[in-house]
Amino acid sequence: MLTILVINSKGGSGKTTLTTNLASYYASKKVRTAIMDYDPQGSSIQWLRLRPDEAVKIHGANAAPAKGAIPLRSTHAWVPADTEITIIDAPAGTKGMLLQELVRKSNFIVIPVAPSPIDIHATADFIKELFLFGGARNAKVKIAVVANRVRNSSSKVYESLERFLNSLKLPFLTSIHDSENYLYAAEQGLGVFEMDGPATIAERQELMPILKWLNGQFPDRFGSRLEDNAPSPEGSKKFAMGTQNVTVLSATGRFKNQP
Ligand SMILES: Nc1ncnc2c1ncn2[C@@H]1O[C@H](COP(=O)(O)OP(=O)(O)OP(=O)(O)O)[C@@H](O)[C@H]1O
Ligand SMILES: [Mg+2]
Repeated sequence: MLTILVINSKGGSGKTTLTTNLASYYASKKVRTAIMDYDPQGSSIQWLRLRPDEAVKIHGANAAPAKGAIPLRSTHAWVPADTEITIIDAPAGTKGMLLQELVRKSNFIVIPVAPSPIDIHATADFIKELFLFGGARNAKVKIAVVANRVRNSSSKVYESLERFLNSLKLPFLTSIHDSENYLYAAEQGLGVFEMDGPATIAERQELMPILKWLNGQFPDRFGSRLEDNAPSPEGSKKFAMGTQNVTVLSATGRFKNQP
């Protein structure tokens, strides 16, 4: 099993959005996927509850410490033995032993960062902490950063972060734009890779560099399922955009409306 940790100590940087979209991509490719939600807010678990019955199953593990407990270590986090990819949605402010535990568990770390100077500064501090106290220096984990909620693609605000990442030889993979389509998908328990038609092409394209970076490091592991032009696996479904009704394209190619 491969484990991808989505983390930034800064709140609201897009950890849950990235977690759910990566999970829905791998699930739609028929890779057995699980999410471990370490956040007591439980946003990823909540997203899983919204998923239509017709969507490919993603296992959800609530790994958050019990209410009132000190978030040092998780106590219970179980995924099925045949899980191929687990994506960990980390809570804001993760540090100390919990940070070390999550780094130890992970093969890849993806850090989303929002484009404000405060977020960028906090993220640079978090990356230092990841190396100095989180165990990332010793672990064989691969780390990359993505910009999220970018409004202006020529935004200069990331330049200092890019310089910092270059000095650490960490890749800055892509800029994810601020788009309502992420919200539309999320409120249906879906990711943009499961949304049909041209509406989410831009979102899917801007997420691709993350998937290429990840997939390029586990070639052969999933057969041809992750190839760019691999045919949609049998039974995988696409959902139309819309907030009221979810239109499901069944495996037989027929549409039906879900309430
Ligand atoms: N690219 C985007 N475009 C539009 N909205 C976005 C985007 N990324 C995230 N959001 C929205 O911003 C808010 C924060 O995102 P998200 O919950 O993914 O962040 P988080 O890092 O998980 O937050 P927390 O630290 O509270 O767990 C959410 O309402 C989410 O829907
Ligand atoms: Mg979150």
